[in-house]
Amino acid sequence: MTDDRSPFPAGGRDWEDLSAEMTARTADDIDWRGGRTPLYVFFDREETYEIGKKAYMAFFSENALGKTRAFRSIDSMERDVIDYGLSLFEAPEGAGGAFTTGGSESIFVAMKAAREALRAERGWKRGEVLNIVMPDSAHPAFDKAAAAMDLDIRRAPLRGDMRVDPAALKDMIDDRTIAIVGSAPCFPHGVIDPIEDLSRIAMDAGVWLHVDACVGGWIAPFFARNGRGTPAFDFRFPGVRSISADLHKFGFCPKSASTVFFRNEDDLTRSRFRHDAWPSGVIDTATLAGTRTGGSVAAAWAVLNHLGEAGYRDIARRLAEMTDAYVAGIEAIEGLKMHARPDLTLINYGSDDFDIFRVAEGMTERGWLVGLTKKPRGMHAMMSMLHEPARAQFLSDLAECVAAQRGAEDERSALTATY
Ligand SMILES: Cc1ncc(COP(=O)(O)O)c(C=O)c1O
Repeated sequence: MTDDRSPFPAGGRDWEDLSAEMTARTADDIDWRGGRTPLYVFFDREETYEIGKKAYMAFFSENALGKTRAFRSIDSMERDVIDYGLSLFEAPEGAGGAFTTGGSESIFVAMKAAREALRAERGWKRGEVLNIVMPDSAHPAFDKAAAAMDLDIRRAPLRGDMRVDPAALKDMIDDRTIAIVGSAPCFPHGVIDPIEDLSRIAMDAGVWLHVDACVGGWIAPFFARNGRGTPAFDFRFPGVRSISADLHKFGFCPKSASTVFFRNEDDLTRSRFRHDAWPSGVIDTATLAGTRTGGSVAAAWAVLNHLGEAGYRDIARRLAEMTDAYVAGIEAIEGLKMHARPDLTLINYGSDDFDIFRVAEGMTERGWLVGLTKKPRGMHAMMSMLHEPARAQFLSDLAECVAAQRGAEDERSALTATY
């Protein structure tokens, strides 16, 4: 046995003992409840959190793999959630969707469907190297899917407003392109790509358009309904063939929960994995995962029914007010500038006067986990209601860290942007 390996437990420890040790292990964790992390955790209010948790715990042993044979409860809740998403995204008759364990999985199965569909439509054989053309700001979940399915990725440049340049993206499409992508919004800069233009390009080129609304999907429509002018990104644009939207981000549902939607039933079938060539017979799943907890499904169903239209509109209103206050606070600090105007609550800002990563170093010393972008060099946050109580402290620490740059040596920070 190696010295640094944890020995297999002797067992017999009771809950009190285990719980005490687990709590002790959180000593160096980031204080997410205090709004100290710019990503990873999403929060509305205590009541929503508790409802999600209770529903999750009520079904955490049920296995969604067995939803049609053993757990009709899970199947019916899953169907409801998919129906809610289909209406939210204005899906036409015949559209369908699936519940998955996260954004990366939703993107994977959508790209699998795109590959199958375009192979069938163009008569491509296995082994042909196909490609996906997407904005430079698109999430690496596409690169991960491409790595697994042996596809090439082409990243198209962004315009000054940090949205993809549709003309440049169009020029990168060739006769081996299966799909183009737009984000709603992209993670790095928080802006929604010009989906209407991408839809037109997809229709003209006969390629698949996937809208990655993993971040914004379940909340952006409510920003729009509140009159915020948030751009549309859904099935109203005829070229949009699939949409990914995470419940565990701005749907405020417990992890691991995402959804993926397809304009037509055949594409939904193509996204699935069906297999019969083994001793135990047919396996037919919508996810890469086999076994997955029923807890996520029950929790999503409960949170969606708890919040509903009124609840999400209220959250959208509060998020918008908070984001405006952050943006105003940041712009009031001399030397800082927004890199983009946020469509939702993802902010990205930097400086022409000094290296913003040096400010990030100062903020890190003050106990903030700082999000960074490298193109352009910026500080980044994906904010939910956790960040409202922390706003005053954050902005005052930020102002002090910026002030510390004045007169300081003009040195570049050695920090690297890490997601
Ligand atoms: C735009 C976007 N797409 C996809 C994902 C991947 O989601 P997940 O981490 O749930 O796999 C993320 C994660 O932040 C994202 O921001």
